[in-house]
Amino acid sequence: MSSAQSAPKAEANAAHNASDEVETAAEAIRVEDLHKSFGNLEVLKGVSLTAARGDVVAIIGGSGSGKSTMLRCINFLETPSSGRIIVGGEEVAMKPDGSPAKPRQIERIRTKLAMVFQSFNLWTHRKLLENVIEVPVHVLKVPKKEAIASAMTLLERVGLAEKHASYPAFLSGGQQQRAAIARALAVEPSVMLFDEPTSALDPELVGEVLTVIRDLAAEGRTMILVTHEMKFAREVASHVIYLSEGRIEEEGPPEEVFGNPKSERLQQFLRTVG
Ligand SMILES: Nc1ncnc2c1ncn2[C@@H]1O[C@H](COP(=O)(O)OP(=O)(O)OP(=O)(O)O)[C@@H](O)[C@H]1O
Ligand SMILES: [Mg+2]
Repeated sequence: MSSAQSAPKAEANAAHNASDEVETAAEAIRVEDLHKSFGNLEVLKGVSLTAARGDVVAIIGGSGSGKSTMLRCINFLETPSSGRIIVGGEEVAMKPDGSPAKPRQIERIRTKLAMVFQSFNLWTHRKLLENVIEVPVHVLKVPKKEAIASAMTLLERVGLAEKHASYPAFLSGGQQQRAAIARALAVEPSVMLFDEPTSALDPELVGEVLTVIRDLAAEGRTMILVTHEMKFAREVASHVIYLSEGRIEEEGPPEEVFGNPKSERLQQFLRTVG
């Protein structure tokens, strides 16, 4: 997949790798033949993806096609029915029914997979700074002073340093989503998962959140991004997956998927989303 990257993306990737010499594996995450059923409803019918370090994989598809379910299975918010998930070379141990064989392993791996949700999911009774340091301090056992310093740097980075003592309810949707991204970054994730991070926002607030995500892509972060923003997906993705009824109907580099869609369904989908 890295071969499909444009030159600037590959450069950013190389710079990122150079600063992190201990991690030599090129593969950040691999998902193989993932299935998920809810009762009799088979929502994922065998989907696979691989992201090398620095890749941005965009997942597009109609409502109900299984995009959120796929992300939620990757992050173990849902238990897959079957399949394999390999994060940074480590395979998640699953029982035959897909449930975790080693719960502690899941806890550990989950901290490498930060998720950003459509509805922000900030802790409403905590100030922004407290939201960002919560997992580093209480789960990762980072000393509080250190966690605060890092959190302030991250809030600065998403343009919210002056709001660190505000409660989420006093912020705009765009500010809340940028805070949620700072919180996701605070665990130093190896892969970031975004589930339609801008679809709950008023149109005038979408741009500020996309700018933050664009910067993360440019610095070589590995991301899996479910989005309805086709123009944005085309711009930042190194690989695009089109899901339809729980299957990968078509995938490839953005210029192929958007510029020369082969399947009738994808052509129809792209016409609908404009
Ligand atoms: N917890 C659940 N229990 C039962 N069915 C579920 C559950 N979660 C999702 N589904 C069903 O799985 C299918 C896929 O849902 P999913 O949320 O993954 O779609 P999506 O592609 O993310 O759609 P959207 O673009 O609307 O967010 C839908 O038919 C949905 O009703
Ligand atoms: Mg969804």
